[in-house]
Amino acid sequence: MSNIQWMYGDEPKSLPDDWKEKIQSMFLNETGEEYTLESLSNLPIPKWSGNMLLINQEEYPAPESIVGVLWALPHEINGVRIAAFVLDAEYQSSGWGGKAWQHLIEISRAAGKSTIQLEVKAENTRAQEFYKARGLGVVRHLPHYYKSGIGYEMKGPL
Ligand SMILES: CC(C)(COP(=O)(O)OP(=O)(O)OC[C@H]1O[C@@H](n2cnc3c(N)ncnc32)[C@H](O)[C@@H]1OP(=O)(O)O)[C@@H](O)C(=O)NCCC(=O)NCCS
Repeated sequence: MSNIQWMYGDEPKSLPDDWKEKIQSMFLNETGEEYTLESLSNLPIPKWSGNMLLINQEEYPAPESIVGVLWALPHEINGVRIAAFVLDAEYQSSGWGGKAWQHLIEISRAAGKSTIQLEVKAENTRAQEFYKARGLGVVRHLPHYYKSGIGYEMKGPL
């Protein structure tokens, strides 16, 4: 699997449309979240070390080469917020998510950040376990956050 690696990504709005479509279907299949190409493009993710794409080099630059996304952004003065985190099903549970998470933690600490937060569907207990294992806890219930039901805001120290 050495031909798979996390790489820094461009701003969502600058990605080719067929890459956006691949990312859009990853969200739909793996989290049930529906994004339009426009709403993906509007995500305010800068080009920085918290913007990562998991790339299968063998398929590059075809849209199928994008097999994971971790999109984070600076939030308020001392925080980082994850706006999107998803891997294709066949790449889950192999440590790839943990690896990107670790990198995000390191670069966020180096930037002087002290908190990390995100929103997750209440029904997505697997992702919640992943975040709990990394020191985050539910700080707020978000009754109408998702079309399909309630969400949680999770937050923790860096
Ligand atoms: C949530 C998600 C991004 C996590 O990424 P991941 O690559 O699956 O996570 P990891 O494999 O790094 O870690 C998950 C668990 O797998 C196990 N694991 C880690 N490395 C492993 C390996 N090499 N082999 C088998 N299992 C492994 C660990 O026990 C880990 O548990 P931990 O949380 O106690 O450390 C991913 O599962 C995903 O895309 N899920 C669907 C979409 C989703 O729910 N996104 C979050 C929305 S908020």
